[in-house]
Amino acid sequence: MKIVKTKYILTPDKIISDRAVAFDEKIVDIDEFEILKEKYPDAKIVEYENNSCLLPGFINSHVHLEFSANKASLSYGDFIIWLNSVIKKREELIPKCDEDCLKNAIDTMLKSGITSFGAVSSYGYDMNVCSQAPQRVVYFNEIIGSNPAAADVLYNDFIQRVKESIKLKDEKFIPAIAIHSPYSVHRVLVEKAIEFAKKNSFLISTHFMESRAEREWLDKATGDFKAFFEDFLNQSIPANRALDFLEMFNGTNSLFVHTVWCNEKELEIIEKNRHSIIHCPVSNRLLGNGALDIGKIKYLGINFLTATDGLSSNYSLNLYEELKSALFVHYYIDPNVLAMDLIRSVTKNAAAALKLNCGEIEIGKYADLQIVELPEDLDNLNEIPLNIILHTKKVKNVFISGEMYE
Ligand code: BEZ
Ligand code: FE2
Repeated sequence: MKIVKTKYILTPDKIISDRAVAFDEKIVDIDEFEILKEKYPDAKIVEYENNSCLLPGFINSHVHLEFSANKASLSYGDFIIWLNSVIKKREELIPKCDEDCLKNAIDTMLKSGITSFGAVSSYGYDMNVCSQAPQRVVYFNEIIGSNPAAADVLYNDFIQRVKESIKLKDEKFIPAIAIHSPYSVHRVLVEKAIEFAKKNSFLISTHFMESRAEREWLDKATGDFKAFFEDFLNQSIPANRALDFLEMFNGTNSLFVHTVWCNEKELEIIEKNRHSIIHCPVSNRLLGNGALDIGKIKYLGINFLTATDGLSSNYSLNLYEELKSALFVHYYIDPNVLAMDLIRSVTKNAAAALKLNCGEIEIGKYADLQIVELPEDLDNLNEIPLNIILHTKKVKNVFISGEMYE
């Protein structure tokens, strides 16, 4: 048993002071420090100084670790130019991300308070490292391929990777699937993959309505994707229509990544089916995709998550960097309200979407925790979330299943 004492606790729905938390693998008790010490006399005490704050570990629900070798190899500014650069450079970038590179990426996340992540894997090269990561991992085996002639080969390769990941399944490594996007996966493959996921109760993640080019291609078979598909894949017809694609996910609670170019009808379907939206503001900015209207997402009551995406479209996997950017992208929302919503989007909301028993400081939840230090006393407790985002780069400690990492 351990007892952690900080000045503040962000649950994350409320901020409390003068309380401590007792936990083993899971949180056992939340009470006054003196009472907990008496109740659990053998517990190891971990006490933090002045302006410390305890909050749930962050959950980075969308990352592509296999692309972690990228620094400036890929072209930013426009989605199609970026996609062409990925296709051109991936054969040199992917092998460059060896075991050390993957472990480095995972360690950066750990040091910035990330105690769970959702890894989208294109090749399975990150599978073993993810299964041994200190964090809780939802491992999304991805399927891609819009050409029906290659469908069987691609599906078999996908199922092979899924089976390998099932062999590694344990309490902290949870296999799942990713369907790359409506423009890049043939509808027959989408159907088969969703059927498989439903049968096996696997979570599904998909990129959806990321760019203007995707919107125009799926709606009208025009726009910047037209030349891309003609030149690269000799195709003139989109692999899916947006609504057909979306409705194939009905009855699942899936993760829709980006959704910057979603229309009202699509958002309504996402809400009705209790899907979640993953917002990646830095990636959206760098690839020229614009900014998600998060006010509308909140108004519609859609479960809202924030994530970094991969180093293929970001300079960092530190969620504190991402949240700082989000504060400035969404400049029209009250910063204190937004800060609290953003912290919720990487804790409680993300845990609900990934079906993880963490993301809250509550009895019975896994003791996945982080401790940060505020620079000085604050007069107003409601300003704590904003100041945590502004002043944190690295955290003091994290706990995962009650185990401490420095
Ligand atoms: C494909 O494999 O069909 C594909 C990959 C990336 C973008 C578009 C299509
Ligand atoms: Fe992504």
